[in-house]
Amino acid sequence: MTLDPTSAIRPATARDWAEIDPLLRARALPTDGAREHQAGFLVAADGSSVTGCIGLERYGSVGLLRSLAVTEQSSGRGVGTALVRALLTRARAMGIETLYLLTTTAADYFPRFGFEPVPRTALPASLSASEELRGACPASAVAMRLTLPGQEVVGARGGSSA
Ligand SMILES: CC(C)(COP(=O)(O)OP(=O)(O)OC[C@H]1O[C@@H](n2cnc3c(N)ncnc32)[C@H](O)[C@@H]1OP(=O)(O)O)[C@@H](O)C(=O)NCCC(=O)NCCS
Repeated sequence: MTLDPTSAIRPATARDWAEIDPLLRARALPTDGAREHQAGFLVAADGSSVTGCIGLERYGSVGLLRSLAVTEQSSGRGVGTALVRALLTRARAMGIETLYLLTTTAADYFPRFGFEPVPRTALPASLSASEELRGACPASAVAMRLTLPGQEVVGARGGSSA
């Protein structure tokens, strides 16, 4: 590995969709509703090229992780891991308590981050607003869930600060 992938994770911009769209298609992931959630997207960038992306759709205290994709050329170098970690940090900071995802191809990838498979019937009703869930993702997709630890209260540990 020549590049620390964490150093190159940044929020997606409107210009990035010229690369995000083909990346999602190349990785056979749904594009429906993705761009509408640009504010929740992060990209990994190597210079001016996007090497990976990930998205977060927020529904109150619940989030949907979607569109995790890394280019073939950049696979296996920790880019996916860096994107997931950055998204988890962001979701926690936003006060999201539970994250869900649907996957047909990576159910064995997400447990390393703490995601566990759940029956599709366990998906909260609030997620039904998501286009990914409303048909873009096949009914055969595996649903997974991660409960995020709450934000640490500043000053709660370490005694007096005075
Ligand atoms: C899944 C994906 C994002 C992983 O990205 P990556 O940058 O190659 O992954 P990392 O370098 O962080 O991690 C590599 C490790 O993940 C494993 N891995 C990669 N893809 C995997 C998959 N689909 N299922 C299970 N394990 C996978 C590798 O074998 C490797 O394992 P190791 O740590 O034991 O050696 C990438 O393969 C991809 O874009 N896949 C197609 C799209 C997809 O399935 N997205 C998820 C749906 S939301």
